[in-house]
Amino acid sequence: MSANGLESVTKPATTEDQSYLDYLMSVRNFVIVDWFPELAEKINTTVEASGKADSDYLEISDMVDDIPRIGSWKRMMRSQQALTWNKLRDSYHADQEKHLAMLDQAEAATGRLHYDKDFHVPDSACYDIHLQPGGYCKDDLAGFIFEHGTRVFYQGMNDNDELHKLYVDMLRQPADGKVTRILDLGCSIGQCTTAFKDAYPEADIWGVDVALPLLRYANYRANEQQSEVHFQQALAENLPQEDSSFDAVFAYILFHETPEHTFAPILEEAMRVLRPGGTLTIVDAPLGTSLPAANRMWQKFDAQYNCEPYAPAFVESDFPGLIKAAGFDEIEQAPTPTFLSLTTAVKPA
Ligand SMILES: C[S@@+](CC[C@H](N)C(=O)[O-])C[C@H]1O[C@@H](n2cnc3c(N)ncnc32)[C@H](O)[C@@H]1O
Repeated sequence: MSANGLESVTKPATTEDQSYLDYLMSVRNFVIVDWFPELAEKINTTVEASGKADSDYLEISDMVDDIPRIGSWKRMMRSQQALTWNKLRDSYHADQEKHLAMLDQAEAATGRLHYDKDFHVPDSACYDIHLQPGGYCKDDLAGFIFEHGTRVFYQGMNDNDELHKLYVDMLRQPADGKVTRILDLGCSIGQCTTAFKDAYPEADIWGVDVALPLLRYANYRANEQQSEVHFQQALAENLPQEDSSFDAVFAYILFHETPEHTFAPILEEAMRVLRPGGTLTIVDAPLGTSLPAANRMWQKFDAQYNCEPYAPAFVESDFPGLIKAAGFDEIEQAPTPTFLSLTTAVKPA
């Protein structure tokens, strides 16, 4: 077992399933690493030549739709994604009882998974995000499927949560250096939540998410790693946490997956649960106008063919303006070593 215990994470049912998933990861690598750069150059040149480089992502997509093989690129992106999820779903559901029992046992063992059986999941959270069948909320094994699906997505760069650790290291420190409680919003299967516990072993770490199947797996995974963190089913826009009870609130790629009308309420809740001087750290998609044309075409692809319905509103938003309106100060934005952006802010002391 590795230092963080991740080798104990479950595997797909058969080696045949694993080899099929490895094949799909190589297809994803080919489409993104080998093919996209050539396509991107053509897209960027076409848009530049049109003299309309500042067009929005919808107009840009229309301008480049005639570029040879762009349709094939989109088809291959979509198909490898759909095939990956379907294989994972079939593989884990083939032994559904065993997998559900693993989640039940961990739940009884830790006592650190908190939810109300009558919790109402809004319709806006029930969609087949990224084509994952049943999305995050409607498949009891969504956590198993999400972990292995995102392994393919990360193309081998996150097999031991390396990227989650990278972002956790970007947490903005409060000026007084006090970090005793951290809240991880939209924590999914808890990869940042447990990374926070590794980085701040004395701190009380909570992950919240709307999706119980993901949280059940997060709790299983944390238990395997002997990481004593708490998980709670809750809406980020309506948190059960008390006022001024956290030193830092963190959200990794939450916002672009939530509807626009929730942006301001989530930021207001972060403000409420932070203590004065507490910090907000957000890692998410870069805002639209900063991106080359080819990346904006990809945004449209994601929204239209990859079931990312909320992302365009996020990247088109005045997000720093919303953070300021929620009462935060000292807003700073920076790139990260990946394509994502870092935004941090402070609750006035
Ligand atoms: C892309 S995933 C976040 C990934 C995760 N932070 C990680 O460390 O890998 C977005 C997550 O936000 C959750 N989510 C979406 N809307 C939410 C809301 N309104 N309140 C709480 N969680 C939400 C989803 O269930 C999903 O787990």
